[in-house]
Amino acid sequence: MATATAVEIAGLEHSFGGLEVIARMDVSLNAGEVRGIVGPSGCGKSTLLELVSGLREPSAGAIAVHGSTSARDRLASCAFMPQRDLLLPWLSAIDNAAIALRNRGASRREARSAAHPLFERFGLAGFEGTRPAELSGGMRQRIAFLRTLLAGKPVLLLDEPFASLDAITRAEMQEWLAEALAAESRSVILVSHDVEEALYLSDRVTVLSPRPARAVAEISAPAPRARPRLESVTDPAFTAARERALEALTEASA
Ligand SMILES: Nc1ncnc2c1ncn2[C@@H]1O[C@H](COP(=O)(O)OP(=O)(O)OP(=O)(O)O)[C@@H](O)[C@H]1O
Ligand SMILES: [Mg+2]
Repeated sequence: MATATAVEIAGLEHSFGGLEVIARMDVSLNAGEVRGIVGPSGCGKSTLLELVSGLREPSAGAIAVHGSTSARDRLASCAFMPQRDLLLPWLSAIDNAAIALRNRGASRREARSAAHPLFERFGLAGFEGTRPAELSGGMRQRIAFLRTLLAGKPVLLLDEPFASLDAITRAEMQEWLAEALAAESRSVILVSHDVEEALYLSDRVTVLSPRPARAVAEISAPAPRARPRLESVTDPAFTAARERALEALTEASA
């Protein structure tokens, strides 16, 4: 049986004025797949997500989300978690998480009762009324991720979700996200500059060259994602996949 395709990127090119950011890219994401995208700083990763999400139109090529190339349909199918959390400081954690429901016309009470079970499920019970400034970096990222989930879209675009966190919080958050994604049937594109993080969280990882970005390698992640992180990342098959990804990154940058 053919696997359903969630996102099909074909012959994609993008420039900002004279600055060529995406050279030529073909990437296909199966429905339910988690795809890591790794590449050097400034290579065009965030631009790629903005293009997929429908916030931008590409200079050339096509991006289809669930078969439609219209920007409007892409916006309707994708929830974008931006590189900075962008929580609204004047709203409580739960009102931030549930903002998409409010925007679609739900009452505050309805929005909160939809968000509440996720606070329980994701280790945030008791923080519903807390404002962003009083939350730790890890907590803020969890709220931003819940906000992305609660948008209710089938495709999640996650831009460096843990880049701003210290190493220990980051490792904890990776385990947390691995479990969260395993429990969801969404299709996910996860951008990271960290090969280990991308491989641990994804089914497959696409390695990008420096700007203008091209896809230079595609590497399957060997371990099931929900295993304890340390067990996954020290597995010989995982280490071998990480070496292959790092080699591809280094070769592309040479
Ligand atoms: N709106 C814009 N107008 C002009 N240039 C832009 C715009 N957005 C991004 N760029 C440029 O495009 C290039 C790619 O930027 P982008 O943010 O996509 O890279 P990135 O891989 O996400 O970087 P980082 O690793 O720092 O997050 C950079 O040179 C950036 O300066
Ligand atoms: Mg970026």
